[in-house]
Amino acid sequence: MNQALPEPYVIEGSLPDRYPRGWFCIGTDYEFTSIPVKLDYFGTSLVAYRGQNSGQVHILDAYCPHMGANLAGAGSCIQGDSVICPFHAWRWGSDGVCNDIPYAKKIPAKARIRSWPVLEENQLVYVWHDPDGGEPMEEQRIPRDEQVFEDGWTPWVIRRAQVESNCRELIDNMADKAHFGPVHGSEEITLFTNISEGHKYTQLMNGRSPMGTMESEATYYGPGYMIHRLTHQLATGETSRFMSLVMNVPTSLESFEFLAGFKYPVPPGSEGNMVAQIEHVNQLIDANERGVFADLAIWKDKVTIDNPILCDGDGPLTRLRQWYNQFLVPVDQVPESLSERKVYDKSESILFQ
Ligand code: FES
Ligand SMILES: [Fe+2]
Repeated sequence: MNQALPEPYVIEGSLPDRYPRGWFCIGTDYEFTSIPVKLDYFGTSLVAYRGQNSGQVHILDAYCPHMGANLAGAGSCIQGDSVICPFHAWRWGSDGVCNDIPYAKKIPAKARIRSWPVLEENQLVYVWHDPDGGEPMEEQRIPRDEQVFEDGWTPWVIRRAQVESNCRELIDNMADKAHFGPVHGSEEITLFTNISEGHKYTQLMNGRSPMGTMESEATYYGPGYMIHRLTHQLATGETSRFMSLVMNVPTSLESFEFLAGFKYPVPPGSEGNMVAQIEHVNQLIDANERGVFADLAIWKDKVTIDNPILCDGDGPLTRLRQWYNQFLVPVDQVPESLSERKVYDKSESILFQ
């Protein structure tokens, strides 16, 4: 007797109608100098530069309200802590206020552009974005990571890729236990736990890869910055370890910039030689085809799915999405319960074929 088949499943998907609130890492400290950098984020254009007097990184709206030129465009330059527009040389201070017009007797009172909050921590630079215009929240401050500052590590090396998808697709990875075999080449997962607490979300994972047994710990601080440590015990008895960053900055509601950062132990012989260390990290990134860039191939042509059919072996995706959703609603709508520490253990072993 034929059993009736269920109706084909209908995938539902909708994009968030606003950007998440939080700190977004835009690069390493050494990437920002007194040369203006153009950042096309959050559906607009920003200019970032390091002030020559203060040594601080400043970020301003890039579109000059005089006649619309881009303050990070060709010919723009920095003078002290101000940026000079390449079109008619109006000069904008780090507070966003116009402080000089070379050919005017009086600066118009309304000549002010938006200045964005900036944070430098862990040898990285972050910009704060809140769609409601709120100031940075103390609770969401990026904490100092002592290991980053220990001797014996290379500088961060960051690679970037544009992804035509909402940035939530990247976050799903934290709970997605079952993709580590097919996408990243893991052979077995023996421990898999997610921990949610306020703006933090941690994934603990142990298992086995072709390199040896592995221990992995990854934590998101807010919606845009995740720091990860991976240790492998090799068959030779040696230990291999590195730190990485998995980060996103929305470029529009339908696209984001993916930033992946790497920090490895300094190889023997290149102590004090930053160029050689960066070259070493680049070689290791290029050699690791199954690492974090393997996800890009999936994101490139997947669809947003709000109603995934989950099975008992999947990780706590629904919980993860509830956690992430706190960054998509105004502060006064964040559920109180999210501040509590919650542990979701999904450690039943998966053996990938
Ligand atoms: S457009 Fe910037 S000074 Fe005129
Ligand atoms: Fe992944």
